[in-house]
Amino acid sequence: MSARIIDGKAFAESLRAKISSRVASLVARTGRAPGLAVVLVGDDPASQIYVRSKAKQTVEVGMRSTEVRLPAETNQQDLLAVIEVMNADDGIDGILVQLPLPEHIDEAAALAAISPEKDVDGFHVVNAGLLATGGKGVVPCTPSGAMMLIEDEQRDLSGLEAVVVGRSNLVGKPMAQLLLKANCTVTVAHSRSRELPGLCRRADILVTAVGCPEMIRGDWIKPGAIAIDVGINRVPAPERGEGKTRLVGDIAFSEAVQVAGSITPVPGGVGPMTIACLLHNVLRIAESKA
Ligand code: GUN
Repeated sequence: MSARIIDGKAFAESLRAKISSRVASLVARTGRAPGLAVVLVGDDPASQIYVRSKAKQTVEVGMRSTEVRLPAETNQQDLLAVIEVMNADDGIDGILVQLPLPEHIDEAAALAAISPEKDVDGFHVVNAGLLATGGKGVVPCTPSGAMMLIEDEQRDLSGLEAVVVGRSNLVGKPMAQLLLKANCTVTVAHSRSRELPGLCRRADILVTAVGCPEMIRGDWIKPGAIAIDVGINRVPAPERGEGKTRLVGDIAFSEAVQVAGSITPVPGGVGPMTIACLLHNVLRIAESKA
């Protein structure tokens, strides 16, 4: 048996098309396009690629993009001052501070400085708290994108066993909250969990966000399960030439594809959903203001 391969790229494209059309109606109605501001501190190469891609897609759906690049030596106070200006700017609906930040800046302080209403990442404690208590806040983009793919596979998740591997504030914890809200029985596993293969094998829905290349083997997967791989790991690929690399997920895809019912590939699975959901968050904030 071979799993259905979930096409996150196509799903994200279709979501962006819907966003474009909602942006166009909003502009027609209010004369104003939603605006996203992205702050990048330092010159981390992966972050630079993400930020460029975010700005490009923002403009493609008809929104306004503001990019602020600050040098790596920017101090915390100066970063907070930039965020304050953006909080007060009526032209900016969403603010995103690209992570990771340089070590001398307290990440929690930077995220806390963003107005919760403009927090398109959903990382502010107010939004995390609203998600945990069933309120209406901004939901983090990657878990939100993963959830759309899961619900596209199976509409009613009620009573299903969901296992999330990884307990980060950015992915694991909000993912668990979303699955709980959808009435799954949720287990959050992590690096200290005992008997991880056995835990994974219980999952009707398995979501992995650990950042360990191909750690989750095919025989850890329950036959027919929905396997959602959030991991994006760069590994050496000498077969492609000297010094070349390739991307793999947390799940050993070639093994898992023979066991799962459906599975996301890496790349092309959850990855493309993240930016589409970011734009969705900006749109929703702008729509609720209008
Ligand atoms: N760095 C990697 N992923 C993300 C993300 O989703 N949001 C932010 N702000 N930084 C990131």
